[in-house]
Amino acid sequence: MIVMNRFARRAAYFLIIATTMGAVLCTRVLTSVHAQATAPTTDKAVAIMDPTLISRGEYLAKLGDCAGCHTAPKQGAPFAGGLAMGSPFGTIYSTNITPDRQTGIGHYSYAEFERALRDGVAPGGKRLYPAMPYASFTKISDADMLALYAYFMHGVLPVSNRPPETMLPFPFSQRWGLFFWDTAFVRHERFKQDDKRDAQWNRGAYLVQSLGHCGACHTPRGAGFEERGYDESSRLYLTGGANDNWFAPNLTGDLGSGLGRLSPHDIAAFLKSGHGAAVHIVTFGSMVQVVEDSAQYFTDDDLNAIAHYLKSLPAREPSGAYNPQSQKAQEMAVSLKTGDVEHPGAGLYLAFCAKCHQTDGRGVLQKFPALAGNPTVLALDTTSLLRLVIEGGASPQTLNGPPTRKMPAFANQFTDAEIASVLTFVRTSWGNEARPVAKRDVAVLRGKLKK
Ligand code: HEC
Ligand code: HEC
Ligand code: HEC
Repeated sequence: MIVMNRFARRAAYFLIIATTMGAVLCTRVLTSVHAQATAPTTDKAVAIMDPTLISRGEYLAKLGDCAGCHTAPKQGAPFAGGLAMGSPFGTIYSTNITPDRQTGIGHYSYAEFERALRDGVAPGGKRLYPAMPYASFTKISDADMLALYAYFMHGVLPVSNRPPETMLPFPFSQRWGLFFWDTAFVRHERFKQDDKRDAQWNRGAYLVQSLGHCGACHTPRGAGFEERGYDESSRLYLTGGANDNWFAPNLTGDLGSGLGRLSPHDIAAFLKSGHGAAVHIVTFGSMVQVVEDSAQYFTDDDLNAIAHYLKSLPAREPSGAYNPQSQKAQEMAVSLKTGDVEHPGAGLYLAFCAKCHQTDGRGVLQKFPALAGNPTVLALDTTSLLRLVIEGGASPQTLNGPPTRKMPAFANQFTDAEIASVLTFVRTSWGNEARPVAKRDVAVLRGKLKK
C-alpha cells in the first residue's frame, strides 16, 4: 500500500511537472536545437592519444567515481555496467562505459560523450535517468571533459557485456518525459570561479559540485526527485538527504549534526581513510563505497581543498546538539560507571554495544567510532542509525586506513521497541541531545528494507 501511494504520488508530480512545463518549453527547444547544430563535431582523435591526458583522465574518473556506479558487484569487470540502483521509481541499471564498440561507448564521438555527461542524452537522443548524476557533471570543465574522454577511449579495456535493461513502470518508462524534468530542474552551466574566494576554495567547490557529485546524496530531494540546489546560494544545498534508505548527513557548519565541530584535517582524514582524526567518526552505508572507490585516491591537495570548501559553508538546517558539560551528561556518566542506570535502553547498550563503543561512548580510535558527539548520531533523520543497527555494517577497506571492522546486525536479536530504546539512549547520553527514536520508525524501515 505504502508503495502504491508513493508511486501514485510520484506519478502525479511527474505528470503535473510535464504538463505545466510544456508551455515554457517551445523557446528552450528552439535554442537548444540551434546550439546542437553549431556544436563542434570534431573527434579530437589525435589529441586524445596523449599518455599524460589519458592518465589525467584516469584520476578524473576516480574523482567522479565512474567505476563505483558502472561496475557490477562481486568481481564485475570495471566500467562494464550492471549495478542495480534503487530509486523511488524502480531499479535502474548502470550501463557499460568501456570502449567496446557494440555493448559499450567505443563508438562515441567526443561531442556524444560530452552530451551524455553534461546533458544526460546518449546517442540516438536517448535521455538518461538522473541516477547518472549529469546535473553535477554538467559543471565539469572542458579540459577535464576531454581528458575523461581520452581515458575512456584509450585507457580502459573494452569489455563485451550487456547489463540488464532498465524497465521502469509507466510513466517513468517514457524516457522522452525526462526532457521536461531536465528543463525544470537542471541548469546546464560550467562551474563558475568566484574571484572573491581563494584558489583552494574554488578547487574544493569545483570538485564537490561537479565530479564529486556530493549533493547527489547530501542535498535533500524535492517533489520531482530533483536536488534542492547545486551550490551554496541555495539554502538546502548539502544540508542532508536520504537515498536508498541511507541518510547522508548535513555537510554545512551546524555544530550538532553538521561538520561544525570537525576540523579540515578531520574531514580530509575521513575521506582518505574512512576514519575521522580528532572527532572519531567511521564511515558506513553508501559512503563506504564513495571512500573505497573514489575519495581515498584523491590527492592531499584535493582533499584539503574539499575540506576547506566544506568548512566555509555556513550552518544551515541545524539539528541536535552536543553538550558534554551539561549536568545531565555528567550525572549519566557517573551512573553508567557505577552500573546504576534507570534510563531505558542503557541496559541494552551496556550488554550489546559498550564492548566496542565503550561505556563512555568514546569508541576506540582507528577501530570503533565514538557515539558521543558523533554528528550522524545527532541528525534529525534517523534512517542511517536504524539501518545500521538492523543490518550491521563494515568499515571500509582502504590502502592507508586501518583494517576493516564489522558491526554486527541486530535485526533478529532486538524487537522494534528495543532498537528504538537503545538508539534513544545513544541519542540522549554523554551530552548528545537529539530527539528520541519511535518504535514505529523501526517497523517502517524494516518493511522498506525487506523489499
Ligand atoms: C551515481 C551513479 C553514477 C555515476 C557516479 C556515474 N554514472 Fe554514468 N550512468 C549511471 C547510470 C545509472 C546510467 C544509465 C542511465 C539510464 O539508463 O538512463 C549511466 C549512463 C552513463 C552513460 C551513457 C551510456 C549509454 O550509452 O547509455 C555514460 C557515457 C556514462 N554514464 C558515463 C559516466 C562517466 C564517464 C562517469 C564518471 C565521470 C559516470 N558515468 C559516473 C550512473 C552513474
Ligand atoms: C552515494 C551517496 C554519497 C555520496 C555520493 C557522497 N556521500 Fe558522503 N555520506 C553518505 C552517507 C550515507 C554518509 C553517512 C555515513 C557516514 O558517516 O559515513 C556520508 C557521510 C559523509 C561525511 C561524514 C559526515 C558526518 O557528519 O559524519 C562526510 C564528511 C562526507 N560524507 C563527505 C562527502 C563528500 C565530500 C562527498 C563528495 C566527494 C560525498 N560525501 C559523497 C553518502 C554519500
Ligand atoms: C563488534 C563491535 C561492535 C558492536 C558490538 C557494536 N558496534 Fe556499532 N559500530 C561498529 C563498527 C566497526 C562501526 C562502523 C561500521 C561501518 O563502518 O559500517 C560501528 C558504527 C556504529 C554507528 C555509526 C557511527 C559511525 O560514525 O560510524 C552507530 C550509531 C553504532 N555503531 C551503534 C551501535 C549500537 C547502538 C550498538 C549496540 C546495539 C553497536 N553499535 C554495537 C562496531 C560495533
